[in-house]
Amino acid sequence: MSNIGSYEKRLSDFDWGQARETLGWKDGELLNIGAMCSDRICAEGHGERTALIWEGFGNKSGKYTFDDLRLYSNGFAQFLKDQGIKPGDRVCIFMDKIPSLYFSFLGILKLGAIAQPLFSAFGDESLEVRLASAGTKAILTTKKHVKKVRKIRERLPELETIVVVEGNPSKLRDDEVFFDVEEAPKVDVFDVYKSTPETPSVLHYTSGTTGQPKGALHVHSSVWGQALTTSWVLDLKPDDVYWCTADPGWVTGTSYGIIGPWSLGVTQCVLDSGFTSRRWYQFIQDNRVTVWYSAPTAIRALMKDGDEVVKEFDLSSLRFLASVGEPLNAEAVIWSGEVFNGLQFHDTFWQTETGAMMITNYPGMEIRPGSMGMPFPGITACVLDLKTHEPLTEPGKVGLIAFRPGWPSMFRQYWKKPDIYRSKFVGASDDAMPDQLRTDTSLWYVSGDRASIDKDGYYWFVGRDDDVINTGGHLVGPFEIESALVEHPAVAEAAAIGKPDEVNMEVVKAFVTLKPGFEPSDDLELEIMNFIRKRLSPLAMPQEIEYMDKLPKTRSGKIVRRYLKALEWGEDVGDLSGLDDD
Ligand code: PRX
Repeated sequence: MSNIGSYEKRLSDFDWGQARETLGWKDGELLNIGAMCSDRICAEGHGERTALIWEGFGNKSGKYTFDDLRLYSNGFAQFLKDQGIKPGDRVCIFMDKIPSLYFSFLGILKLGAIAQPLFSAFGDESLEVRLASAGTKAILTTKKHVKKVRKIRERLPELETIVVVEGNPSKLRDDEVFFDVEEAPKVDVFDVYKSTPETPSVLHYTSGTTGQPKGALHVHSSVWGQALTTSWVLDLKPDDVYWCTADPGWVTGTSYGIIGPWSLGVTQCVLDSGFTSRRWYQFIQDNRVTVWYSAPTAIRALMKDGDEVVKEFDLSSLRFLASVGEPLNAEAVIWSGEVFNGLQFHDTFWQTETGAMMITNYPGMEIRPGSMGMPFPGITACVLDLKTHEPLTEPGKVGLIAFRPGWPSMFRQYWKKPDIYRSKFVGASDDAMPDQLRTDTSLWYVSGDRASIDKDGYYWFVGRDDDVINTGGHLVGPFEIESALVEHPAVAEAAAIGKPDEVNMEVVKAFVTLKPGFEPSDDLELEIMNFIRKRLSPLAMPQEIEYMDKLPKTRSGKIVRRYLKALEWGEDVGDLSGLDDD
């Protein structure tokens, strides 16, 4: 029997109090995610249960119980406190998926500070932009990545503490501290910060069409939404072995790779090594993974490697599969059913901003391959007319996916950007403050995605309503890429768009004009690509650069990415009357 049981029944008698029941949480108990994912599970008598099964590069591995989680997160909390970190300070976690990432995440929350996880493959520029925006006070990193921090440190006056948690302690600079939590004296008792439901917890940076990335701020009561969706959608039970393939630098890796499952006391696996189909299947086989949450790009890559590879492994432990991050094509759903003992991937739709799943397919319900499913109970969703912003009632009509504010894991603001936050709500008055917006159920929060709803209520994704590039499930902002491109000595102007890709759905393509004295060449193309990879990340690196004599612009001088994208995708270029035609 699945945890959700009947979707219809859950819809009819829903209230968010059911999240408390699912967690066994009583009024008056401490609501601190760090403690809920470790201390509380131990207090319930499950301290000896395995919390984390970890495998890294070069045959490194580790196994940790919930009691280890408790002790090591206490260790980080105490260490950061001793370093002068205070509740509300932003502490960045900048490392690969090593165990300390998970321990420190919970430790930061236990201290009442705000965890700011960033993808370790970010280059120095991506890092700088996000640390500067958040006014980050401390960064936890490893020997492998600290060099990028050193490069930008002088430009970040608010960054006071640099902690290296792995590597060689003898080669650090004077202003860096070394801390190996597993070697340090154990901290059995830590006085956990008395967070309230509205105490900030996690700050995730996400990209939009314009401007630099924005920090979506979450709070400790997000755990209600994360735990309940983990239970009802991923169907996790205490004896499951769960694998979320996402990196906690992105929201899936924290909401469903840390908070949801551990708040429910479930064993998680983490694989920190490069992707190959065999490595992944081996990991499932060795650890007897039962529930697997992944992404369409990975599923398509597995599919490309074919059915024969699957047969080399015993994957009979699997019982439930789910996916998030980009459109999950019908072929991938059907293929998974054919090769994984009849198990089809359940698509789930949500965002950094929503903090938890919003539209999903449910255990035990019919999957319509290609559809994202239906709204989670407790979520009021619709699609709004593209122009009038009125809810559409006609099945099959394409509109903007929108939600009524007020679900627990909703982001509380974009860090120091109240105007952009406001712009996400249809019907908001010009002076509405974030706290009003997030509770006003007469408004619609607009996701920025287009979809249609069929006559039975299933949602079908159509595409994004903006220029953000979704490559392998990761959003990349064109503005960030364009800003970095024009820093290259040869580039005069630049535009970045997503171009279709068989596995990654989209990859970045850049169009550039060159400064006088530079000639287009393959070598220059490679040089520019590497320039972006190092400064931003491998994800943001253009896979192709097209040289142009001039870029299409409006009369006011704005580059029209829409035009370039339409040409690239072979679509109608639309109304170009606003373009500069001289
Ligand atoms: O465009 C949608 C796409 O990813 C965006 C959210 O990205 P991010 O904030 O990085 O969070 C990703 C993980 C929650 C959405 O606005 N997206 C996410 N899930 C789906 C999707 N597109 C189609 N189908 C999905 N299931």
